[in-house]
Amino acid sequence: MQHFLIVLFILIPLFYSEAPAKESINVVPEPNSIVTGDGYFLLSRATTIVRAKDLQKLGEYLNEQLGIFTHLQLSEMTSADGIKSVILLELDKSLTEPTSEAYELEVTPAKTVLKAKTEAGLFTGIQTLLQLIPLPNSSSDGGFNIPACTIKDYPRFGWRGLNLDCVRHFMTKDFIKRYIDLLAYYKFNVFHWHLTDDQGWRIQIKKYPRLTEIGAWRKEADGKMYDGFYTQEDIKEIVAYAKSRFITVVPEIEMPGHCEASLASYPENACVPGPFEVGIQWGVYKDIYNPAKESTYTFLENILTEVMDLFPSHYIHIGGDEVPKIEWKENEACQALMKEKGLKSEEELQSYFIRRIQKFLESKGRQIIGWDEILEGDGPDSGGVVESWRGIDGAIQAATSGHYTILAPGGYTYLSQDADGLSLDTVYSFDPVPPELTPDEQKYVLGTEASMWSERAPQETVDSKMFPRLLAIAEDAWTNPAEKNYDNFHERLQSQYRRLAYLGVDYGLERKAISYRTTFNKEKKEFIIDLTPTQAGITLRYEIGDTLTLAGSHPYVKPVPISSTATFIAQAEMNGRLVGNPIYLSFITDKALNADVSVEEACSPEYSAGGVKSLVDGIRGTANFRDGLWLGYKGTDIHATVELQKAQNISEVGAGFYQSISSYIFMPTSVEFFVSKDGKDFESVGVAKNNVPEKDPETLMADFKVKFRARDVRYVKMVAKSIGVCPPWHIGAGAKAWLFIDEIFAN
Ligand code: ACM
Repeated sequence: MQHFLIVLFILIPLFYSEAPAKESINVVPEPNSIVTGDGYFLLSRATTIVRAKDLQKLGEYLNEQLGIFTHLQLSEMTSADGIKSVILLELDKSLTEPTSEAYELEVTPAKTVLKAKTEAGLFTGIQTLLQLIPLPNSSSDGGFNIPACTIKDYPRFGWRGLNLDCVRHFMTKDFIKRYIDLLAYYKFNVFHWHLTDDQGWRIQIKKYPRLTEIGAWRKEADGKMYDGFYTQEDIKEIVAYAKSRFITVVPEIEMPGHCEASLASYPENACVPGPFEVGIQWGVYKDIYNPAKESTYTFLENILTEVMDLFPSHYIHIGGDEVPKIEWKENEACQALMKEKGLKSEEELQSYFIRRIQKFLESKGRQIIGWDEILEGDGPDSGGVVESWRGIDGAIQAATSGHYTILAPGGYTYLSQDADGLSLDTVYSFDPVPPELTPDEQKYVLGTEASMWSERAPQETVDSKMFPRLLAIAEDAWTNPAEKNYDNFHERLQSQYRRLAYLGVDYGLERKAISYRTTFNKEKKEFIIDLTPTQAGITLRYEIGDTLTLAGSHPYVKPVPISSTATFIAQAEMNGRLVGNPIYLSFITDKALNADVSVEEACSPEYSAGGVKSLVDGIRGTANFRDGLWLGYKGTDIHATVELQKAQNISEVGAGFYQSISSYIFMPTSVEFFVSKDGKDFESVGVAKNNVPEKDPETLMADFKVKFRARDVRYVKMVAKSIGVCPPWHIGAGAKAWLFIDEIFAN
């Protein structure tokens, strides 16, 4: 009996392994040519990796990765003689391939052969091979069936990058290595590392220790210190790890702006006396380096010298974006320098600065990359590379003026935006070559990058923001337009989701998870909330109350009625966890519901909520000021008048407002209410003063309301006083401030 059981145990897996695997070819990024074949190559314990002696490292990498994806540990040989099951890695200099990263992969039932002209080509081919192997399952003991096929593939672009901001939130060395592996799996070859900014300096510079002793620390609004930096040893380790994955690490050292942390450490490089503090607000600081002091260049060149010692990358990113020029305008030495050099504007002064740094880096055999602002003024010298982020105009200007360019337009590639605002299909629709360019000019397009700015992306949330959209960028960067098709990509993605889950990637959403509709049933006097999930693989949960938890909430099965003042929360559930932003819908069934309303001032067309009627529709603005429920007024007070259906006994009136100072939205300084029975004689019933701290960096909503002796009221007038312009301490000091209102109520 015992023998019989053992035999069955061995036989069943073998039997299953001979049945054709269902797994078809779901490679991302889509290879540029695939011809499917008949049958399968059986990858098993009996398979041997065969490669020349000088490909030992690649053989080991393949073996290590096969270990991760199959738990097999294969033997490696330098000759295929007498071996039955072979994966052959071969450098073939005679191949005529379009680019150095091209590869040819031929899988037949007899053997698997991967050829390329370079090791980088073999490396990208290994990624394809890994994705052809089905993930382990109950029948994997007999081996893994790799579908027969011939793939001839090469990247459309030589620059396929990810820009990761490790300043606003610090990310650990292990996390970065994990991302380097994930990038490699999807054939990225550039890791653009954002290391310095207003909110922190995260790279050890031995000559200037205060950059990390002071610049790596910031005192958050709650008084807690936030810190983190990479030692030079950490950096060497990461650069070497990336190199073993054929990924170039391109450091970004920001100048002449985005340098508050540097100025906090070495204030002598500034245009104004200081002192400076490492930034705690998200946004652009006005303090910038002083280009009129020779010592500023010495400082930056010494830093860049250490940077070049650490990063072998040909390109060094020097930022150059978002440089407010006010301090240069007001600085005598800067103005004198402009006069001396014949520079007609502060933009030309920026070009002067950028060109000096460029000349220095070029003298060491390197080249600069800068964000598209470096084109302003006289632009960089010819070798400077322009990274276009404010749309694609910078790329067009760069390419038509003979500069290489990297396409990173925020509207397609900034994955730091929620999927609510930048959906998977939008990212996929991106073509890095602007149609305006002639074939000759198109040659200046190096490629494209995703960006993960981390203001709102602490490390533990990065996976859910990055994936699945990073896979769309991978395909934008690798696959020729003729081979790209969203539906087909979306089908392959389903298989990639299983791989990502296998790798422990907490992938997030493809788009805003929930579409909803609220209607008001006049007879029943109730709101009906109708939800629809927008993608496969998610279900919806809801709660009526203040918070929603996975365990405590209800599964959504049909529209939910609400007949009294309440908050409805819904969120998507995927793979047993809540994902994406919850939607909060607050309803108020007060006496102003569906009243007539007029406002003297015009709201911004961008934030019109479909008209002022929305101020009394009973549906309150949510924590997202772009939700289409808030009305936004720029730089002005708000005078509103509400006419109730009939005179009613009222003892409280109020209105809701919003604050998000990083978006220049402030609470009103005060709100005064007046009531009237006839619409002519109005009586003030009180002023609600603002008690929300002006500097609070959080998104806040508050009701301004007044209570008074009950009386018959038909008309309510409200005067909300705007702060007018952003206060002097704010990064937008002097710019018009926003006032956001939703729902005027009466009880
Ligand atoms: C940028 O987003 N300021 C490059």
